[in-house]
Amino acid sequence: MNTALQKSLTYKKYVIDDNLQYFKPHSTKIEKTFADEICSSLSGDSKHIHPKFFYDKKGSALFDKICILPEYYPTRTEIKILKNLKSELSEYLDGSFRLVELGSGSSMKTRLILDIFSKIQNKIEYFPIDISEILTESSELLQKDYPNLHITGIIDTYEGGLEFIEKYDDKKNLIIFLGSSFGNFIPNEGKNFLQKINSTMKKEDLFLIGLDLVKDKKILENAYDDSQGITANFNLNVLSRINDELDADFDLNNFEHCAKYNEKDQRVEMYLKSLVNQSVIISKANISLKLKQGELIHTEHSHKYKISQIKDLMEKTGFEIKQNWLDVNKHYALILVSKK
Ligand code: AVJ
Repeated sequence: MNTALQKSLTYKKYVIDDNLQYFKPHSTKIEKTFADEICSSLSGDSKHIHPKFFYDKKGSALFDKICILPEYYPTRTEIKILKNLKSELSEYLDGSFRLVELGSGSSMKTRLILDIFSKIQNKIEYFPIDISEILTESSELLQKDYPNLHITGIIDTYEGGLEFIEKYDDKKNLIIFLGSSFGNFIPNEGKNFLQKINSTMKKEDLFLIGLDLVKDKKILENAYDDSQGITANFNLNVLSRINDELDADFDLNNFEHCAKYNEKDQRVEMYLKSLVNQSVIISKANISLKLKQGELIHTEHSHKYKISQIKDLMEKTGFEIKQNWLDVNKHYALILVSKK
């Protein structure tokens, strides 16, 4: 059996209409459950919760609110850059490219890229990859505004989705990874992930990544600790999620949101600080968690980069930089690369 066929057999295909289909892995694909991951990440000495768990329905809605906060500059800055690079990006594209998006979420910024495709293609192919089923809702919204759009959604991890695309056919891809989501990776994981992307790309493919840049500490800390407390709610919401889904008894009043910029490691670090000595039962994870007053649960790293470091990282992971675009304040960068 050829590998493409083998691969497609591990996914279930859902055809919604002529222009919309999804692929979802069969449940046999082994995945650590939420309960297992929470059990191991909260039992040890350095307690942490993986940031991917922020995005339940409520968390995703809070994140959308964060994106329009006055203090949270990344989203609006990235949108501004995307609006300006339109004609320049289209010079790298032609009628045979299709769009692949890692972590498509609500697909808002995707529209700016689709507008570029619309100018050069009559039929646009879009492959969103997202672990969340939100993909199905956002795809249907996109369809309303882009009648010539053919969507093949892949509800899977980034790695799974990239392998799926690699095996699918030989068409040229523009892969996009926006929003500085890459910033969640610690350096080693990030390098591995870029190598993974590189290894699934063809010579003619392109990759566009949005990254947040190093800047004044005050601007950074305000962006992650806003005056309306939305980011605090977003951070605390992960505990509500654990309460709801894993039958736990976290009292949110006993925790405080903390965001600190670590200059040495060039990252904003988010924590939930225990305000009292307390113990929390997480039934479905089978643990009774003891926390001391002042103890921290780490929830997120958001790395910031210097342009020179981005160049270095791209070189080391097998890419060649085609072009980069910055905003006037040099707060944010979009980098277009191809395989070396
Ligand atoms: C979605 C990971 C890019 O790190 O800026 C926003 C998430 N956390 N405010 C970021 C986030 C707190 C965001 N990323």
